[in-house]
Amino acid sequence: MKELRAANTGDFTTGQGVSHETGELKQWFVMIKDTENRFSGNDVWGDGWGWALFMPKDKSQNASSNYKNDCLGCHVPAKETDWIYTEGYPVLSE
Ligand code: HEC
Repeated sequence: MKELRAANTGDFTTGQGVSHETGELKQWFVMIKDTENRFSGNDVWGDGWGWALFMPKDKSQNASSNYKNDCLGCHVPAKETDWIYTEGYPVLSE
């Protein structure tokens, strides 16, 4: 799950113009592993995952209707690592 929040910059004892997250939630990207291809023919399931996008104003609805159009293009560089950008999680490789 990837939680996206609005960002802000400020001057801190660590430096000027330092970026930080704020309390304003933007959206959640969610992937659920599906090794059995249980929902073939469903446009938000495929390539080993269920793919979803949730917006704060309606958390009960998947705002994405087609993972091939909405997600896969951007995740192609991570195809060799099962579509996940594993370099962002170095502790998992230790
Ligand atoms: C504009 C490009 C783009 C789109 C569109 C996009 N992603 Fe991503 N996604 C990325 C990148 C790049 C990362 C890793 C770096 C980061 O988080 O900024 C990522 C990270 C993630 C992560 C955290 C796991 C990881 O690989 O690091 C999840 C979960 C995720 N995306 C799901 C989705 C889903 C589901 C969709 C479609 C609804 C989607 N993404 C659409 C570019 C994109």
